[in-house]
Amino acid sequence: MQQVIFLGPPGSGKGTQAARIAEILEIPHISTGEILRSNVSQETSLGQQAKTYMDRGDLVPDQLVLDMVEERLKEPDAQKGWILDGFPRTVSQAEFVEEKLSNSDGNSSEGELQAINLDVPDDVLVERLLARGRQDDNEETIRRRLQVYREQTAPLIEFYRDRGQLHDVDGDRTMDEVTACLKKAIAPE
Ligand code: AP5
Repeated sequence: MQQVIFLGPPGSGKGTQAARIAEILEIPHISTGEILRSNVSQETSLGQQAKTYMDRGDLVPDQLVLDMVEERLKEPDAQKGWILDGFPRTVSQAEFVEEKLSNSDGNSSEGELQAINLDVPDDVLVERLLARGRQDDNEETIRRRLQVYREQTAPLIEFYRDRGQLHDVDGDRTMDEVTACLKKAIAPE
């Protein structure tokens, strides 16, 4: 059972690479940002609560996201492994993942969690996001998302390094080069 977490600032390529690796490993790619955006566009109660935070570039409150991830991880396709893209993003979200894994029986020997830290310089991130132009890809929100990343999510790099679960990957290369490096790190032949 493979369990992979993608860390990295906005625009580092988490979504792009998580989709590719999920296809290679044949496990679901679970993006909390995508699930939240789909709730916003369907105007669900979760979407209505999350929208203001997302538009500002702030994190959606932990409890909303934890409940959402908990539900998603119960689905049948997630029982054989998963890639989490954009989750965890706070220490309490990371502790939730740890607790979930320690409670899941039987898989401890093969269920090794791996965390990827995609590293890309800020100027490249901003350039990529402005070129993409998603609803939250305007300069002000990008600046806020980067600040939130540094304050709340970057501490997870050491969290996973301390546990011996971190792979640092240079994300400032072509998409194919990054995929090749990830494949080597996560799924060596
Ligand atoms: P989320 O959707 O996770 O956005 P993000 O972290 O800001 O990340 P992005 O999707 O912008 O970038 P990415 O790293 O996935 O890069 P991508 O592959 O798209 O979250 C959005 C919001 O939802 C958050 O701000 C928050 O409000 C909320 N949220 C989500 N999860 C949450 C959580 N766990 N807790 C609380 N709130 C949460 O690539 C970006 C662009 O670059 C693309 O155009 C791509 O084509 C291009 N690109 C990618 N790789 C390369 C490359 N190697 N070379 C050139 N271009 C590249």
